[in-house]
Amino acid sequence: MGIMEKDIERVLISQIELEKKVQEIGEQISKDYEGETPIFVGVLKGCFIFMADLMRHVSINCSMDFMAVSSYQGTSSTGAVKINKDLNESIEGKHLILVEDILDSGVTLNYLKNYLSVRKPASIKIATLMDKPARRKADIYADYSCFEVPDAFVVGYGLDYNEKYRNLPYIGVLKPEVYQA
Ligand code: IMP
Ligand code: MG
Repeated sequence: MGIMEKDIERVLISQIELEKKVQEIGEQISKDYEGETPIFVGVLKGCFIFMADLMRHVSINCSMDFMAVSSYQGTSSTGAVKINKDLNESIEGKHLILVEDILDSGVTLNYLKNYLSVRKPASIKIATLMDKPARRKADIYADYSCFEVPDAFVVGYGLDYNEKYRNLPYIGVLKPEVYQA
């Protein structure tokens, strides 16, 4: 067993399931935005693998930009959102698609949506790899969601626990003793 695998309780979403669903969502977005040139805004760092895979199934013209925010320490949100890197492109009159790894309390995306809407984009939609509705605090929903997940702390495919496990090729549930230690 690998050094990372021993901290994983179970595989929640396999590589094959990820591949299939991400392709489906990429194709759906391509249909929905036909004739438009949306900007995909990735929320770093958790989005990086999902966005890279998603974009290869998007067949329309588009551009990409990234924001970096921090709101989380360990396994619970601090509730405060800090912008560490803002967009490089102007978004006025453009269709935005925010790309997130997981919609949990919703505090981060709710904050970002309000923060960006001031710049007058034509629209803002949310594409998330996972949705954890059990823990929602903010009044926000995903327009595109690949997987609804239970209230467990998950890692892999871009998601971390204290910056580790992002490079696992699947989504796994972290053993509670790893973060309770
Ligand atoms: P929210 O503001 O509570 O919706 O938190 C969103 C952010 O928290 C995500 O972008 C993740 O970085 C992090 N997060 C929430 N749940 C998990 C999880 O189960 N595993 C890893 N990161 C998580
Ligand atoms: Mg994180």
